[in-house]
Amino acid sequence: MEIAPSILTADFTRLGAEVEAAFEAGIRWLHLDVMDGRFVPNISFGPLVVQALRPLADRYGAILDAHLMIVEPERYVEAFVAAGCDRITVHVEASPHLHRTIQQIKALGAHAGAAINPGTPTAALEAILPELDLALVMTVNPGFGAQAFLPGCLAKVRWLRRELDARGLREVAIQVDGGVNATTIGACRDAGANVAVVGSAIYTRGQDVASAVARLRAALEPGEPAVSAWS
Ligand code: DX5
Ligand code: ZN
Repeated sequence: MEIAPSILTADFTRLGAEVEAAFEAGIRWLHLDVMDGRFVPNISFGPLVVQALRPLADRYGAILDAHLMIVEPERYVEAFVAAGCDRITVHVEASPHLHRTIQQIKALGAHAGAAINPGTPTAALEAILPELDLALVMTVNPGFGAQAFLPGCLAKVRWLRRELDARGLREVAIQVDGGVNATTIGACRDAGANVAVVGSAIYTRGQDVASAVARLRAALEPGEPAVSAWS
């Protein structure tokens, strides 16, 4: 399972060092949470930060994965690809012309993903699945880091796994995002997710990034049972 750190709770006064610590720990997928204060009640950062991180990601051969929690994402897709995003995920709730936006991302040469909030059923993804490189199941309501994992969302991950397997779409990644930590990551993997976004369980002041990554990897060791409360 790929671990994709979200920098939202990182120390932004030393963002390069925070990201490099994750890359040094073997991480090759960085998750960038873009918030506009409209789709979600918080504002984070835009293409400038992506652009600043691109050379560092190149040095480690890492992927920059932008999660756009913004209205009218189609207006900004080009800017995020130009800034260096390899992957762009938009929310189905924010994209009335989702099919067009997904094609737009792919035409720009990036991998395209679609995300659903906890209150959105999997039906919202059903028609678009063959076009996707990634489906993102939010396991918190988006907007803030360090919220509690919503175990009810795992049923949607299980549905996606079944549906993608049944349709022979095994190359579509299933990503979970929100409240994923050493306690909950095993259940996400068991439900069928193969990319885990992890924010505060990696980036918390005073916590060593490499040890946090090691704890997550240990929780994914074969034979390490998922904590039953989350299964
Ligand atoms: C939620 C973001 C997440 C989140 C992850 O709005 O999309 O990426 O910040 O952070 P944790 O792991 O702390 O929930
Ligand atoms: Zn995210």
